[in-house]
Amino acid sequence: MKNHRGKATVMSKSLQKILIVDDDSKILDVIASVLRDGGYTVVTAANGTKAIRSIDTESYDLVITDLKMPEVNGMMVLKHVVDRSPDTMCIILTGYGTIEGAVEAIKAGAFHYITKPVKSAEIMTVVEKALKYKLLERENILLKQQLKTKYRFENFVGDSRPIQEVFELIEKVADTDSTILITGESGTGKELIAKAIHYNSQRRDNPMVVINCGAIPEELLESELFGHEKGAFTGAHKARMGRFELANGGTIFLDEIGDMSPNLQVKLLRVLQEQQFERVGSTRTIGVDIRVIAATNQDLFSAVNKATFREDLYYRLNVIPINVPPLRERRSDTPLLVDFFIKKFTKEKQKSIKGFTQESMDTLFQYDWPGNVRELENLVERVIILSDSEEIGLDDIPESIKQRAKRMESFEVAMPKGDIPFDHAVEVYEKKLILQALEETNWVKTKAAKLLKMNRTTLIEKMKKKKLQKPAV
Ligand SMILES: Nc1ncnc2c1ncn2[C@@H]1O[C@H](COP(=O)(O)OP(=O)(O)OP(=O)(O)O)[C@@H](O)[C@H]1O
Ligand SMILES: [Mg+2]
Repeated sequence: MKNHRGKATVMSKSLQKILIVDDDSKILDVIASVLRDGGYTVVTAANGTKAIRSIDTESYDLVITDLKMPEVNGMMVLKHVVDRSPDTMCIILTGYGTIEGAVEAIKAGAFHYITKPVKSAEIMTVVEKALKYKLLERENILLKQQLKTKYRFENFVGDSRPIQEVFELIEKVADTDSTILITGESGTGKELIAKAIHYNSQRRDNPMVVINCGAIPEELLESELFGHEKGAFTGAHKARMGRFELANGGTIFLDEIGDMSPNLQVKLLRVLQEQQFERVGSTRTIGVDIRVIAATNQDLFSAVNKATFREDLYYRLNVIPINVPPLRERRSDTPLLVDFFIKKFTKEKQKSIKGFTQESMDTLFQYDWPGNVRELENLVERVIILSDSEEIGLDDIPESIKQRAKRMESFEVAMPKGDIPFDHAVEVYEKKLILQALEETNWVKTKAAKLLKMNRTTLIEKMKKKKLQKPAV
């Protein structure tokens, strides 16, 4: 196991507790003395009933149990361990000629078996292997927890009000099993959000399986999702598990759900309603325990109106809608994202770049990012590769972005209708602009002022004059 400094830690053997179960007291003594000599803490039980009582009250790293015992046999002890103490490893003792029993036990969750008569060297090897496996498994869980933290705190940045609202929603819904529909333009971070939900849920130790419904032809998509039996169609030489089976216990992320064919929409609806399906070419029903997260950059509601997307499926998916606003509606996230990507790519490419000049940063602010965060990420990566200077200047920014940013600067203004005097129109416009900046920055005046390229004190003065106050929640 690795500790937080990355050094391997060795768990002291005497801290590792082993329970040995056998109705033959000679065998109990032999194994117990081998393991005690090996430095382990050992407890013995002379029958299955005593063993089960002991497992319920003590916490063991490993249980070694004989299979054949009167009344409560080894299989029952094993099942009790798997049920009540899944972290405990189990090794089976079995006489020659009863290997089938041992195989059965391994299927039921035992780590390994040892045949009688027992040999000290074999016992030590198998026990050491089992305990090492246990440590590795724990390490795995720890790594997954780190991954989870990574998704919550490091990988996903933004401090604008809209994105903070998305964060709050993720925290609230992650640990429920509700189906989630993530909508938003391309590159806004839908897949990142789906991952954040999965890694912040109870399902995090089970797989998250991603499938892009738009990228796979219909016939293939069906067998990708549900699997198929051997001979189900030409080319199906072997039976194959589908993504729904692979994701069992975890989360399936159905990307580009709007592209799914009507035929598959019906089948998906059934999985959502009943958590069961059949493989292609099979009549056997398979039950699964799955959380579904779907995403689309289409307007699914209008697809329902046009009858290209099933209404019942839409409502099944849309239990919890998460809408990710485009980057141009949360411009105040730009500096944070730029910083985040600079750190990421300078590390990856081993370059030392401090940041963008004020001028070039202004251009990034004005630009409207049709490709959203992905476009920003790609831009930062490209300029870091290409630039030789420590600071990214206007020269490093592609011409197309600069031109479009310029056009954005000279935006259109609507002519006021009716007989509204000029001064009043300007007044209203100013108020709206300030209000928008404040809302976008969750009423943090320093940030709003920056967004408006206005002095903070000027902003405060204007807010007072216009009686702008943060609404009470
Ligand atoms: N808030 C964010 N913080 C950090 N990185 C982000 C953020 N949002 C998006 N990204 C990054 O931008 C890229 C695009 O994000 P993602 O693939 O999740 O978008 P998407 O909405 O699924 O896009 P598409 O609809 O095209 O599939 C990814 O590399 C992702 O890591
Ligand atoms: Mg995506």
